[in-house]
Amino acid sequence: MTTMNAAVVTAFDQPPQYSEFPVPEARGADEQLAEVLAAGLHPRVRTGASGAHYTSSGTLPMVPGIDGVARRDDGSLVYFVADDDVVGTMADRAVVDARRSIPLPSDADVPLIAAAMNPAMSSWVALRKRVTLTPGSSVLVLGATGNAGTAAVQLAKRLGAGRVIAAGRSRARLDALADLGADELVQLTDDTDATARSLADAASEIDVAVDYLWGEPTSRAIMAILTAREDKGRALDWVEIGGMAGPTIELPSVALRSANFRLSGSGQGALSPRGFLAELPSLIDELLAGAVALSPRVIPLSDVERVWNEPDVPGERIVFVP
Ligand SMILES: NC(=O)c1ccc[n+]([C@@H]2O[C@H](COP(=O)([O-])OP(=O)(O)OC[C@H]3O[C@@H](n4cnc5c(N)ncnc54)[C@H](OP(=O)(O)O)[C@@H]3O)[C@@H](O)[C@H]2O)c1
Repeated sequence: MTTMNAAVVTAFDQPPQYSEFPVPEARGADEQLAEVLAAGLHPRVRTGASGAHYTSSGTLPMVPGIDGVARRDDGSLVYFVADDDVVGTMADRAVVDARRSIPLPSDADVPLIAAAMNPAMSSWVALRKRVTLTPGSSVLVLGATGNAGTAAVQLAKRLGAGRVIAAGRSRARLDALADLGADELVQLTDDTDATARSLADAASEIDVAVDYLWGEPTSRAIMAILTAREDKGRALDWVEIGGMAGPTIELPSVALRSANFRLSGSGQGALSPRGFLAELPSLIDELLAGAVALSPRVIPLSDVERVWNEPDVPGERIVFVP
């Protein structure tokens, strides 16, 4: 059995360790074994490595990592998404499926693509495929202070939003968002009444919300905005993208009756795999043109156990290089 170096999870309550793991096998004409150049440590990767993601099969040992940049045998670079919850991308080698990969230019910024594709695709796909964003629309980013939310502020503007309201907890990150295109900032604080008033003032007339929080902050935000909304017949598209504040919400039925409020979600299951992938080449162009402010923090894969539980510095994403 041929082995490779990899981040290996042997217990769901422990960080992965750098050790040997069998090299996966490519199957069929679309798959090829390739050299991994970089793989990002996204929130979804941590959830998968803890066995808590809804797609987790519970199999151990496993190699985490959902995406990355690889070099194929012919020397070409690709961004690829893994299709296996047991052998992921945090290893020397990975199976690259032509149906789940996008060619990159030979001089592509490899760590940037590995860091930014996952957070940036969340809003890119949502705003292009899950809603109709008419030029000049008003967009609320709920949970704008994380990497995906920050990218959403910038990409909403790139896609023609006229006004972007950024809402999040961290004052420092919110202030930084003003320089990245946010027109209005709403701080989410423990004073829920004051937060509801601020959201109602800033966001009652939005056309679209992209929501990274869910849980209680979302329940409160929806009701605050709908209650204050002037023309309740005008469509408000609320797109659920992440669940940083909780897995469920409580929503009074009146929310769906009293206004033209349309609730949907965006993620890899919300579109066909082909439809999802079709949105990624244009996003790669945007990232390589500098549309999203996100710095990769490049760490050797051999240090995976040491840094696994370190919180991300705002504006940075850990990228492992084998
Ligand atoms: N559906 C998709 O296509 C897709 C794709 C990529 C990511 N996602 C999801 O998007 C979410 C964010 O990902 P990310 O890459 O941006 O993660 P991240 O960079 O780690 O940011 C997460 C942010 O969430 C904020 N947060 C956490 N709990 C909160 C709460 N209770 N109230 C308000 N803010 C809270 C924190 O901001 P503060 O510092 O302000 O507290 C943190 O910066 C994750 O759930 C991820 O799985 C979805």
